[in-house]
Amino acid sequence: MQHQKFSYRHIDELKEDIIQTGVQLPVSEQLDILKTPLPVGRKILANRLAIHPMEGCDGTTSGAPDTLSFRRYERFGAGGAGLLWMEACAINNEGRSNARHLFLHRENLLEFKNLFNNMMTASKAAWGNDFRPYTVLQLTHGGRYSKPHALVSVGENPYLDPFSNPDRTVVTDDELERIEDQYVETALLAEKIGFDAVDIKSCHRYLINEQLSAFTREGKYGGSFENRIRFLLNIIEKVKVKTELDITVRLNAYDALHYPYGWGADENGNPALDEPRRLMQILWEKGVRMVNITTGNPYYNPHIGRPADVGPYIAPEHPVESAARMLNIIREMKTAAPGMALVGTGFSWFREYGAHIAAACIEKGWMDIAGFGRQSFAYPDFARDIIVGGKMLRRKCCIACTKCTELMRFGGQAGCVIKDSSVYLPLWREATAGRTMMSDRVGKHL
Ligand SMILES: Cc1cc2nc3c(=O)[nH]c(=O)nc-3n(C[C@H](O)[C@H](O)[C@H](O)COP(=O)(O)O)c2cc1C
Repeated sequence: MQHQKFSYRHIDELKEDIIQTGVQLPVSEQLDILKTPLPVGRKILANRLAIHPMEGCDGTTSGAPDTLSFRRYERFGAGGAGLLWMEACAINNEGRSNARHLFLHRENLLEFKNLFNNMMTASKAAWGNDFRPYTVLQLTHGGRYSKPHALVSVGENPYLDPFSNPDRTVVTDDELERIEDQYVETALLAEKIGFDAVDIKSCHRYLINEQLSAFTREGKYGGSFENRIRFLLNIIEKVKVKTELDITVRLNAYDALHYPYGWGADENGNPALDEPRRLMQILWEKGVRMVNITTGNPYYNPHIGRPADVGPYIAPEHPVESAARMLNIIREMKTAAPGMALVGTGFSWFREYGAHIAAACIEKGWMDIAGFGRQSFAYPDFARDIIVGGKMLRRKCCIACTKCTELMRFGGQAGCVIKDSSVYLPLWREATAGRTMMSDRVGKHL
């Protein structure tokens, strides 16, 4: 169905649209399941609500968190989500994808430690000593999106190349081995800070996701399934040997690019989930107990992973269809590794009804935890309103306007321009002066 903007005034109108679009998407009137605890490995999540990793692009030039990073994580800490999944943090300077990208290293360990402590103090102040959110630090290498120089896994990708850093080379096997060790060094620092877990980020076509789809690459990191997952598994094994941290993965289960250019997809670009399912089972065998599933690429086909009302291009389908595809793929991943705690993505576009879809997906066993991305920028205390007030409030919700992404793309510091306007509206005006991201590029799903 054609793209439509969100216009529901009552949950029944959403239910009706779900029927009209013909997708499978459950909606629950009862949100109590979102308040229930969940054991994950040796720990217990206090509730089923998560702040997704959301880059603020507001670090210092050396990669340390800066004023707005502190503000954001203090708000997240106080918000009441049981799972705080901190944004993409580069494992080396070359792997940063913007000048303010966080990059954890020995020289700025103290600033990161302060950030973590402030977040936990804010959580304690709001929720008491017995409440301790589970904390994850996402580790990344920007790969084809690194700046000033980018690394790719194979020579050519006709879909992604036009939207990637043109100054790029194919990463060598030796470089990959060196990068594996840098993940370990950063994980050791994350452990010193006090995080419960690191996330070996494998999504959105950054370096590890790139490797998963390196079908045409020669050598030990390309070609066969075993070779393509080697980079990710080597990092997991090395981090396991050197740290006591839990290991989690944010995983693209479907790139929505035609094989051989995309992972989890067939020659027509449709989902082909055998390999992501096999990987889920292998991750379980390796001791990973929590995976955060997402889909698509934010530069080429953003609607696949981040349904929006407006954006850099016209989405080729109804946002309900995009969200339902992603949530049904997550459901598939859950059947591949039923014991794995799965964090789902795709709720922000639904405004307050995102909580109703999340509760239904958890009730039905599609996933275990609901992660909120743009919503957490707009509405950092959404979990409090669900837990204490029993619902989310429309007036505080993200309106899926894509301005947070515009801030990011234009080199600004990212946050909610609409609901946090005193801080981010002036930054958005400054970043976008004389520029526009709107284009008539009609997005393609297939
Ligand atoms: C400004 C911005 C920054 C993001 N940063 C990250 C990130 O650091 N790591 C990541 O895995 N995903 C990142 N994402 C993707 C979100 O975590 C999430 O998958 C996406 O926004 C869809 O979820 P939502 O519908 O709840 O917003 C980012 C998205 C936006 C808009």
